[in-house]
Amino acid sequence: MKAVDSYLDQHRDRFVRELCDYLRFPSVSAQPEHAPDMRACAGWLVDHCTRLGLEAELCPTAGNPIVLVRTPRQPGSKKPHFVVYGHYDVQPPDPLDLWVSPPFEPRVEGDALFARGSADNKGQHMAHINAVEAHLRTGTELPCDLTFLIEGEEEVGCTNLTPFLRKRRRELKCEAMVISDTGMPSPRHPALTYALRGIAAVEVIVHGPDRDLHSGIFGGSVDNPAMVLCQVLAQLRDRKGRITVPGFYDDVVKLSAYERKQMARLPFKESSERKFLGVPGMFGESGFTFVERRSARPTCEINGLTSGYQGAGSKTIIPSWARAKLTFRLVPDQDPATIARLVKAHLKDLCPPTVRLEVNAGHGGSPYLIDPTGPLAQASMRALKSAFECEPVLLREGGSIPIVNDFKRILGVDSLLLGLALPNANAHSPNEQFSLSIFQKGMRMSARLWPELVQAVERGKRPA
Ligand code: BES
Ligand code: ZN
Repeated sequence: MKAVDSYLDQHRDRFVRELCDYLRFPSVSAQPEHAPDMRACAGWLVDHCTRLGLEAELCPTAGNPIVLVRTPRQPGSKKPHFVVYGHYDVQPPDPLDLWVSPPFEPRVEGDALFARGSADNKGQHMAHINAVEAHLRTGTELPCDLTFLIEGEEEVGCTNLTPFLRKRRRELKCEAMVISDTGMPSPRHPALTYALRGIAAVEVIVHGPDRDLHSGIFGGSVDNPAMVLCQVLAQLRDRKGRITVPGFYDDVVKLSAYERKQMARLPFKESSERKFLGVPGMFGESGFTFVERRSARPTCEINGLTSGYQGAGSKTIIPSWARAKLTFRLVPDQDPATIARLVKAHLKDLCPPTVRLEVNAGHGGSPYLIDPTGPLAQASMRALKSAFECEPVLLREGGSIPIVNDFKRILGVDSLLLGLALPNANAHSPNEQFSLSIFQKGMRMSARLWPELVQAVERGKRPA
């Protein structure tokens, strides 16, 4: 391990330069005009890994290519196999004017590397790739075979990864998936995330008159779609922060006293969070703490709201339509299809007959939960502790990585979530950043992870 550690330290600056090269690709999966950038970015990753002596493959899909990278292995290798998952696609950088420096021109300031995709997720999976490089270059044998599965559609729902998993099931057969695409509460609190929220996306469109109308001539006699939409949406949540959709909470598993106690120990203070976020007060479902609300309780959010005139000055119209994009974050055992159905029925009930309501269910993903006391989870905790020299914490995260359910369903394995993004990472926000010292510790963690996991696998196989 010494040789690997010192290699990682010696090559620190080059690792940062290479990550910057990777971050210069505007690999925004949501925007079709970036399709050539997606291909170029995937190509860069394949070339980079090939140069390291890895076997890298660019796998075309109906959408953005998937990159598969294998560590060198003996034919018929009996070593345990792990698959590291990550994504090279990033969220749109808008609004651009809020960035201190351009999102695709990486900038280092102190310990922070600013760029879109630095934390979510290029920096996080590069830490694992760099750790493998250190093994190869120092002649340190890896105790397991590794495959990297780096996709380009995570931020838009992983449409093409599910069929790919089915097609390549055999070669992706492994002991567990390893994913660094979540957070850690502070540099002194490395974390194993054992639960993620699920998601159900719903688009609501209220159709009124077949064209925009003069609001003086027709106002008062024709219903206003924007007003109806606001009235309907406002009824989705009550004063106590509870979601009013009938049946919404039916399948929610109650938090155990043990979990609530663990969450209370996390280093989050509501008052400092309030300042950090720039809000006059925090909000949430009554009866739950700040940490519980944002990670272990279901929610309803309006992500976007569009109607009528948005330009300078005013325009006196009754808009012809109004649209909202909603997402519901889900917890065990809520089912995204059931929730979308319940929401649709409730919205139809709330809507007056003076307009026409259209509700379209969008992407969905089930919530995810693993047993944090299992042998592989515990092995990951040991790797975190040794690399960060701090006691790791167990986290439930509010975000979603829907594909982990397919890893379970199709490949039959759990995902070990070892996130490296600090709370100030600004994922999906302007000025996204990644801590370079965490990047370095993440590489060490990766190097320590493989022997720990292999030991745990072998212990499990030994006859009792
Ligand atoms: N890395 C995030 C997921 C995440 C963030 C998990 C923070 C836990 C904590 C991922 O890239 C992401 O943004 N996922 C989307 C999924 C959605 C598009 C289906 C999300 O959570 O909004
Ligand atoms: Zn993301």
